[in-house]
Amino acid sequence: MRMRDKVAVVTGGASGIGRRTAERFVEEGGRLVIADIQEAAAEHLCHALGAAACAIRCDVTQEADIAAAIALAVRRWGRLDLMFNNAGRPGDPSPIEAMPAEGWDATMAVLLRSVMLGIKHAAPVMKAQGSGTIVSTASIAGLIPGSTATAYSVAKSAVIQLTKCAALELAEHGIRVNCVCPGAIATPIFGRSIQLPTQLDRRVAEAAQAALTEFQPIRREGRPDDIAEAVLYLADDRAGFVTGVALTVDGGLAAGMSPGQRERLWAPLRSAVAALAEEPG
Ligand SMILES: NC(=O)c1ccc[n+]([C@@H]2O[C@H](COP(=O)([O-])OP(=O)(O)OC[C@H]3O[C@@H](n4cnc5c(N)ncnc54)[C@H](O)[C@@H]3O)[C@@H](O)[C@H]2O)c1
Repeated sequence: MRMRDKVAVVTGGASGIGRRTAERFVEEGGRLVIADIQEAAAEHLCHALGAAACAIRCDVTQEADIAAAIALAVRRWGRLDLMFNNAGRPGDPSPIEAMPAEGWDATMAVLLRSVMLGIKHAAPVMKAQGSGTIVSTASIAGLIPGSTATAYSVAKSAVIQLTKCAALELAEHGIRVNCVCPGAIATPIFGRSIQLPTQLDRRVAEAAQAALTEFQPIRREGRPDDIAEAVLYLADDRAGFVTGVALTVDGGLAAGMSPGQRERLWAPLRSAVAALAEEPG
C-alpha cells in the first residue's frame, strides 16, 4: 500500500500507460481523478475502480479543463500528491519542409503545453501542502532524434527540459518533478495515427505486443505495467531525493544495440568484404 492516502490526477488515464498507472495507484491504496478526452472510457474505468476513483472529461489542450481536474481532486479528497501529465497522441508526421504550422502547434499543445499547464496548476496546491510530486510522460523519442517524426520528438525532448526547469523552480517548496521516457510500449497509441476506431484498441495493443518483442535488446514487448511501476517509484516518498530526472524505461533501446542487432547491421558489410577474399589474385 505504497500510495495509501495519496491523491492523484492522471491525464490520459482512460487507456494504455495512464490506465494501468491509475489501476496500480488504486491497488496501492491511493485515490485519483481520471482525466481524459475519452469520457466514456474514463467513466468505465472509474466504475471498475470503485470509490477510490472519479472521472472527468478533460482535453489537456484546454487550460480550464486541467484546472478543473485538479480542482476536482482537491474538492473530493482535499489534496493533490501526484500530478501525472501523461495524455498524448502521435504528433504531426510531416517532414519539416511540408509541416503545416497548425500541425506543429497542435502537436505542441497536446504533448508539451499541456505538461506546462499541469505543472502550473498543480504547483500552487502542492506548495500549500508543502509536498507533492509531478511526473510527466516524455519518451525515448525525446532522447534519440529520428526515432519518431520530428514534431513528436521535439515536443518530448522539451518535456524533459521542462521537467528539469520545473524541478529547480519547485524543489524549495517540497515538490519533486520528474519524467519517464518510455521505449516502445504495447498500447493502442499505434492505432491513433491512422485514426483506427477505439473499439479496436485492444487488438491494436495485442498487435503491438506481438510486433515489439524484438524491438529492443530485452526480448519482450514494453508493457504499460513497466511504466506504471516507474511512475509509482517516482511518486513514492522513498524517492524523496529524486528530482529533475528523466527515467528511461525502454528495455535497453536507448542504450544502443544488442550483439544480435549489431550483427544484423554489420552483416552486409562483412559479406561484401569477405567476398573480396574469394576473388582470384
Ligand atoms: N506507447 C508508447 O510506445 C509510448 C512511448 C513513449 C511515450 N508514450 C507516451 O505515453 C503517453 C500515453 O500514451 P499511451 O501509449 O498510453 O497511448 P494511449 O493512446 O493508449 O493513451 C493515451 C490517452 O491519452 C488520451 N488523450 C489524447 N489526447 C488527449 C487530450 N487532448 N486530452 C486528454 N486526453 C487525451 C487518450 O484519450 C488516451 O486515453 C503519451 O504521452 C505518449 O506520447 C507512449
